[in-house]
Amino acid sequence: MIRLVISNQRGGVSKTTTTATLAREFADRGKRVLVIDTDPQGSISSVLNLKPEYGLYNFVIEKLNFNDCIVKVSDLLHVMCSSRETTKVETILMGQVARENAFTQIFGQVEQDYDVVLIDVSPSITLLQTCAMVYAKQVLIPIGMDTLSFQGAMASIEASKSLNQLLTTNIRTIGLLPVMVDRRLAMTTTVLEGLEGMSKGMQIPLLHAIRTDQSVTKAARAGKFLVDFDPKCKAYEDYHQVADELEKLFKEPVNAGSKT
Ligand SMILES: Nc1ncnc2c1ncn2[C@@H]1O[C@H](COP(=O)(O)OP(=O)(O)O)[C@@H](O)[C@H]1O
Ligand SMILES: [Mg+2]
Repeated sequence: MIRLVISNQRGGVSKTTTTATLAREFADRGKRVLVIDTDPQGSISSVLNLKPEYGLYNFVIEKLNFNDCIVKVSDLLHVMCSSRETTKVETILMGQVARENAFTQIFGQVEQDYDVVLIDVSPSITLLQTCAMVYAKQVLIPIGMDTLSFQGAMASIEASKSLNQLLTTNIRTIGLLPVMVDRRLAMTTTVLEGLEGMSKGMQIPLLHAIRTDQSVTKAARAGKFLVDFDPKCKAYEDYHQVADELEKLFKEPVNAGSKT
């Protein structure tokens, strides 16, 4: 089973795009996919133009029936959306014992119906992000071609390292994913070189880069998956390859990625 948090402590680095595109790609490969949005900005529902009645808050806090709290985008692809109420989830969980294990307990009970669980998180390190990491144990880090994004990636890796020490968990970064790559730009070359060094030094696989592609923004504006909006676009081609790489990585033994 694939459980993955898409994390980078910086906003605007394709976390939501990557989550939605990979979720659809895995569903197209016949896998049963659950997307959990933990970002109070509810980005997944806005890029996919979903209008959920209930979502994360209702499921985790109000204990509403799971099926009422997801949107069935298709038979194989279900999404638990987030909203402003998600901030209340954080506050309420904060007062609970063993709060870091909240997702493990709650989603552990529904995950048997899925082959893939992808979790989109907000840029800041929050309790929800911690819960997501402790539950999923695998982190994918999209990194844009700028230094802040690079620093955000380091912060995500550090966060999982400290969780591993504090909670004796085994969270690992399964891959570094270069995004918004335009090889004509000098900065791109510099950041990609930095990523190669980071990948070797930390033994975290560097995945196939996602190119900058205007179809991504246009698809989001149209509330569509990339593959429905423009199946021939560059970014979709790249995400397809990344899905291949991830499938391979998940088949390898647990020590394939870094034990950060
Ligand atoms: N490969 C890409 N090419 C062009 N624009 C992109 C690409 N990936 C993401 N974007 C755009 O960048 C912005 C931020 O992406 P988003 O996925 O919302 O990031 P995050 O969730 O990390 O904040 C959005 O407007 C999105 O459409
Ligand atoms: Mg987002």
